[in-house]
Amino acid sequence: MLRNAHILVGICGGIASYKAVELVSQLQQAGALVDVIMTEHAEDFVKPLTFSTMSHRPVYSDLWEATGEAAERHIALAEAAELLAIVPATANTIAKLAHGIADNMLSAVALATQAPLLLAPAMYRDMYTHPATQANLNLLRERGAYIVEPEVGRLASGAIGPGRLPDTEVLLGAMRMVLGQGGDLAGRRVIVTAGGTQEPIDPVRYIGNRSSGKMGYALATEARDRGAHVILISGPVALSAPYGVELRRVETVIQMRDAIHSFITDADVLIMSAAPADFRPARVAAQKIKKDSGEAREREGSGEWSLKLVQNPDILRELAILREDGQPGRHLICVGFAAETHDLMQHAREKLRAKQLDLLVANDVTRSDSGFGTDTNKVLIFHADGAMEDMPVMPKADVAAAIIDRVVSLLGKRVN
Ligand code: CTP
Repeated sequence: MLRNAHILVGICGGIASYKAVELVSQLQQAGALVDVIMTEHAEDFVKPLTFSTMSHRPVYSDLWEATGEAAERHIALAEAAELLAIVPATANTIAKLAHGIADNMLSAVALATQAPLLLAPAMYRDMYTHPATQANLNLLRERGAYIVEPEVGRLASGAIGPGRLPDTEVLLGAMRMVLGQGGDLAGRRVIVTAGGTQEPIDPVRYIGNRSSGKMGYALATEARDRGAHVILISGPVALSAPYGVELRRVETVIQMRDAIHSFITDADVLIMSAAPADFRPARVAAQKIKKDSGEAREREGSGEWSLKLVQNPDILRELAILREDGQPGRHLICVGFAAETHDLMQHAREKLRAKQLDLLVANDVTRSDSGFGTDTNKVLIFHADGAMEDMPVMPKADVAAAIIDRVVSLLGKRVN
């Protein structure tokens, strides 16, 4: 995605400009060709040498230098760019861009380029919320610019409010999303479920499982990077949602099923990488169950406690029945997962058939390089036509890319 992408990073004169050093470094490490353009005031905060050391390329700033070369170069830079990201974007530069002013290298390139424009505003709270800045941002939005909203927090001045530059990871996510517009999932709506569920026993206890959500979040990221509108339906996990995906948080299987049903009509793909609990407590106690209460005791003095469970709906199996009836979702490409500890092949093939899946991704969770909480996965991909692919151990991001490749190919073959 970022490898060999030609990215222009504009740096404005704000205190957050030092954070753009990390961004440029990460882009360079990911293989992007990064040309940095600094405004005059940006150089008061960070030296051009800092950026050129990180980007391994020259840094541009003065449009009017004596040789006149820079004036020509701004056209070349504008034409080569696949993305112009201005990080941080100050109120002054935002105003210039909104009104077509081109009085320095950065604003001239912004006017000359056809590349998508991404702005990460960062400034003092009251400058950001000022109607002039908001009107300028709206003008740019209407013209197709992408705005990464600043975070709310403590600003350099000590004031609290919106104006903080988001973390590098968020900025990278936004850049990847913009670069991915027009990818092979452009115009597609993809639902991804991730993480385990929590089925309450009482207000403080629940039944859960070991799913970390990493595989599902990697799939959501990959689908976003390839141009899809991603709806991520996530159980409670310790991960931040990828930038730009529509996040729905759920706790229980019933909530997960309802969330899926609310999005299914317009969706093209459903990837069920979540680990929904098969059973839930038959009754949720309104108050914390005390160990000495009669409620907790099986038999007085026995030290035993039984919890009555009832079966949860099998979301994929229910959907298979609805699809057979010609209900909404009948054109969905459905991908299921199977986490197994034994007889993997047999269980995987049974699940593929019973849930009428297009693909089933199976992994042996007893392996140390695969399954819950790991960063790598070793999977087998089963296809509806009986084919099976034995994939090597790969980072979860690469497993996600391999799965999405196969989804794209199935979408291409789908008869609408
Ligand atoms: N799944 C589902 N609804 C459930 C349980 C699982 O839709 N209540 C989905 C999972 O998200 C996964 C696939 O079904 O994509 C297989 O899940 P898994 O837990 O491996 O299988 P189960 O059908 O629950 O069978 P078992 O627990 O007996 O292995």
